[in-house]
Amino acid sequence: MSGESYSKRELTAIGAFVVASVLIGVGAYQLGFNLSGGRAVGAEMVAASAPAPVSGQSLYASNCAGCHGGKGEGGGVGPALANSLTWSLEDFSNAVLNGKSPDRELSPVMPRFAVTGLDGETATDEQVKAIHDYLGTLK
Ligand code: HEC
Repeated sequence: MSGESYSKRELTAIGAFVVASVLIGVGAYQLGFNLSGGRAVGAEMVAASAPAPVSGQSLYASNCAGCHGGKGEGGGVGPALANSLTWSLEDFSNAVLNGKSPDRELSPVMPRFAVTGLDGETATDEQVKAIHDYLGTLK
């Protein structure tokens, strides 16, 4: 009989093993949660390896809407964009990137996105076209 029961020392060792296993399990779970659950980490890794698709809507929202209104209707510091949407893409880009409309130099309040960049990155023609296309869908 006594040979089958565990000594106090054995029980303590088993108990410690169980506690340690649970702690390791919880720790691993939390680590996994932070790596995969914090979606942003994965998204950044994707962005670093392959360029994220250019979204005119989000570019417009974060770089232009504050001055030109949520739908390019104006009302902020900037004018409505309906008129400039009748320009060629080339003229529109020149206004956005260099602050030059077809007939004049725009006020310095309008950022020169060739200088300031879009979303902290050097502005590309692709981004300006995406914004232009997005605004075109709002008409
Ligand atoms: C800090 C405010 C501000 C931000 C941000 C801003 N603009 Fe402007 N924008 C202006 C102002 C002010 C004018 C008018 C300048 C003038 O008439 O001399 C203007 C003019 C323009 C024009 C010429 C409109 C016309 O009919 O003459 C275009 C096109 C334009 N902005 C596009 C954009 C786009 C696209 C973005 C985002 C990438 C943007 N702007 C961000 C303030 C801003």
